[in-house]
Amino acid sequence: MSATPIAIPQSTSPHAVTISLSPTSSTIHERFRKNSVGTSLSVRMPKVLHPVENEDLKLLLLENISQDAVKMFEAQGFHVDHSAKSMSEDELITKIGSYHAIGIRSKTKITEKVIKAASKLLVIGCFCIGTNQVDLITAAKAGIPVFNSPFSNSRSVAELVISEIIALSRQYFERGWEMRNGIWNKQSKGCWEVRGKTLGIVGYGHIGSQLSVLAEAFGMRVLFYDVVMIMPLGQARQVDSLEALLSEADFVTLHVPELPETTHMISTEQLAQMKKGSYLINNARGRVVDIPALIDALKSGHIAGAAIDVFPSEPSANGAPFDNTLNGWASALQTLPNVILTPHIGGSTEEAQTMIGEEVSAALSRYLNYGASVGAVNFPEVDLRAITAEQGRHVRVCHVHNNIPGVLKQVNEVLSPYNVEKQYSDSKGDVAYLMADIADVSPHDINRLRELISRTNANILTRLLA
Ligand SMILES: NC(=O)c1ccc[n+]([C@@H]2O[C@H](COP(=O)([O-])OP(=O)(O)OC[C@H]3O[C@@H](n4cnc5c(N)ncnc54)[C@H](O)[C@@H]3O)[C@@H](O)[C@H]2O)c1
Repeated sequence: MSATPIAIPQSTSPHAVTISLSPTSSTIHERFRKNSVGTSLSVRMPKVLHPVENEDLKLLLLENISQDAVKMFEAQGFHVDHSAKSMSEDELITKIGSYHAIGIRSKTKITEKVIKAASKLLVIGCFCIGTNQVDLITAAKAGIPVFNSPFSNSRSVAELVISEIIALSRQYFERGWEMRNGIWNKQSKGCWEVRGKTLGIVGYGHIGSQLSVLAEAFGMRVLFYDVVMIMPLGQARQVDSLEALLSEADFVTLHVPELPETTHMISTEQLAQMKKGSYLINNARGRVVDIPALIDALKSGHIAGAAIDVFPSEPSANGAPFDNTLNGWASALQTLPNVILTPHIGGSTEEAQTMIGEEVSAALSRYLNYGASVGAVNFPEVDLRAITAEQGRHVRVCHVHNNIPGVLKQVNEVLSPYNVEKQYSDSKGDVAYLMADIADVSPHDINRLRELISRTNANILTRLLA
C-alpha cells in the first residue's frame, strides 16, 4: 500500500508541529499519531496566554479536592493552598481576600458576604454537581463565573440503575438481608430475568440515554418519554406520553430534573397506570415521586418493588439518622419488602470524582488563562478561537460589564487604534462579557488599554491576557 497522497504545505514556522503520513501505518489516525518522517502537515499551535497582572495567581482549594488538581494548577505556575476541610463564612471572609480562585465541594458556602470580601476573586469552581452552595447572582454581578461538573457522573448513575433493575427483579436485597439474619430462603417465585422485559425511561438526557444502551445490551426492550424529541439510540423508541410509557413498561426509571412540572410526576394516578407487578426506580430527585402514594401502591401489591436513591429531605451529613423526623413516611417505607433504599449514591464513584476533578480544574484554567467562560452556570458563555503562537504581540481583552446600552461603543472607541482580530460578546441577565483579540499591542500599551477599558462606566472587571 502506498502513502496517502495529501497536498501539504511545508511549514516555515518554528512553532509548527510536523505530522507525517507514514506508508506503513494502517489507518489515517495511526499515521497522524505516529508522527514519523515523511510528508509533513503544519498545525498552528495555540499561544499559551497568561494574565498580564504582575501578581501571581493564588488558588484556594478546600474540602479535599484531588491532589491531581493541585498538581495541575501548580504545573501552570499558580500558587495553591489546599485544605481537607471546608471553611466557615467567618473564616472565608478573613482569608478569601488574597485569592484569585477558589475550589469547593458542597459544604463550603460562598455567600454574599464572602463575595463582598473577595476583592481579587476571579472564578469559583464547584468540584461537584450542584451549585446552590454559592450565591450565583451576587457572584455574577461581581464578575465571577461559577463552574461545576453536572454530567461527570452520568455513567455511574446509569450503572446503578442497571444493578437495581436486576436486584429488584431477582429480589436479592431481600434474600441477602435474610441471610444476614440467619435465614435460608431460596425461591424463584416472582423472580425474573430482565431479558425481553421492557424498560421505560422518563427523561432521555445524559443518564437516560446511557442507560438505554446498557439496558439493550442486557436484552431489554427500551421505551422512553421526554418533553423534547430526541434521536433514539439503538432500538429504543420514544413514546408520545408518560401514560403510554407507564402502561407498557415492566420497569419505570426516572431521569428528569426537579422542576415544578416534574414535582410528583409519579403519584397515585400514574402508579395506577403502571402495569401490575412492575417496578419503579427513582435516582433523579426526591420530589419527583409522591412517596406516600408509592407506599400505598407497594402495599397493595400493584407495584412489585422500588429502588429509591433520592429523597425530598436528605440528612446533611453521614451518620445522621434517616427517620420520620426528616420524612414522615420513612419507617413505613423501611418496612416494605423489595424496596431498595440508598443514600443518594447514584453518582458516587471514584471514576465520577476523578472526572469532576478534571473537568472543573480544566474549566478554571481555561477561564484564568484564556478567559473562556463556556460551561459557567451564572455567567454569559463566551470563547474565542485561540491566538496562535506566531501571533506574538496579540493581546486578549476580557471585559465583564453591566448589561446596559452603549458599552460596546465605548470599548470599541478604546480599541479603535488597533486591529481587532476577533471579538465576541454575550449577556446573561444584568451581566455581559466581551472577549476581543487585538493585534500588535506593544508591552507599553497593554496597561494603558486595561486602564482605559476599566474606566468605562459599565465596567465590572477587565483583564488582559498575553
Ligand atoms: N442520584 C444521583 O446521585 C444523581 C446523580 C446525577 C444526576 N441526578 C439527577 O438525575 C436527573 C437527570 O440527570 P441528567 O444528567 O440525565 O439530566 P439531563 O438534563 O441530561 O436530562 C434530563 C432530561 O429530562 C427531560 N425532561 C425535562 N422535563 C421533563 C418532563 N417533564 N418529562 C419528561 N422529560 C423531561 C429533558 O428534556 C432531558 O432530556 C437530574 O434530576 C439529576 O439531578 C442524580
